Amino acid sequence: MKRKLVFVTNNAHKLEEISSILDGKMELLSLKDIQCTADIPETADTLEGNAIQKAEYIHRHYGLDCFADDTGLEVEALDGAPGVYSARYAGEGHDSEANMQKLLHNLEGKDNRKAQFRTAICLIMDNEQHLFEGICRGEIIKEKRGGAGFGYDPIFVPEGYTETFAELGNDIKNTISHRAKAVQMLCEFLNK
Ligand code: IMP
Repeated sequence: MKRKLVFVTNNAHKLEEISSILDGKMELLSLKDIQCTADIPETADTLEGNAIQKAEYIHRHYGLDCFADDTGLEVEALDGAPGVYSARYAGEGHDSEANMQKLLHNLEGKDNRKAQFRTAICLIMDNEQHLFEGICRGEIIKEKRGGAGFGYDPIFVPEGYTETFAELGNDIKNTISHRAKAVQMLCEFLNK
């Protein structure tokens, strides 16, 4: 029987992305599947801290094995910003367009466009906590390109490519992304 795991998210894009990476190896349940409508706190100042906070919340309230992730875009010339604040870089509205415009504005005149997406995953299984990390290095271009994906995808070109994540599309992105790498580590652990 497949192992049931709750993925602590309400983001349909991410659920779809991770389901396709897991390729049916586990029965992945969303927050909706477990009828959780709570506003789960995410108030830590690191990606790992937020992932732990979210996974612990579900484990404490539902007693289910689960994992939570948190991702940030870390830009070298901005000392790692927006980082853990990536979703609300331009304010609480979680507006991707405004976030990208703010980032492009803050990088104006800077030659160093290096950046990385970093994902932290916290798995709680059999009452034990495990952390996994995935990093995708690349650079921020000057103007948006492409229509796929979400968040900062239209302005991020991963290392070894000339297209943005938004131009590459989900099939390619899912093989090289920060989240794919972190989930890969998670799957390797679960398959042990
Ligand atoms: P989350 O922790 O996965 O919700 O990510 C926080 C924020 O980082 C999102 O709201 C997006 O702005 C950004 N982000 C996370 N993953 C990606 C991605 O794969 N592409 C582009 N932006 C992302």
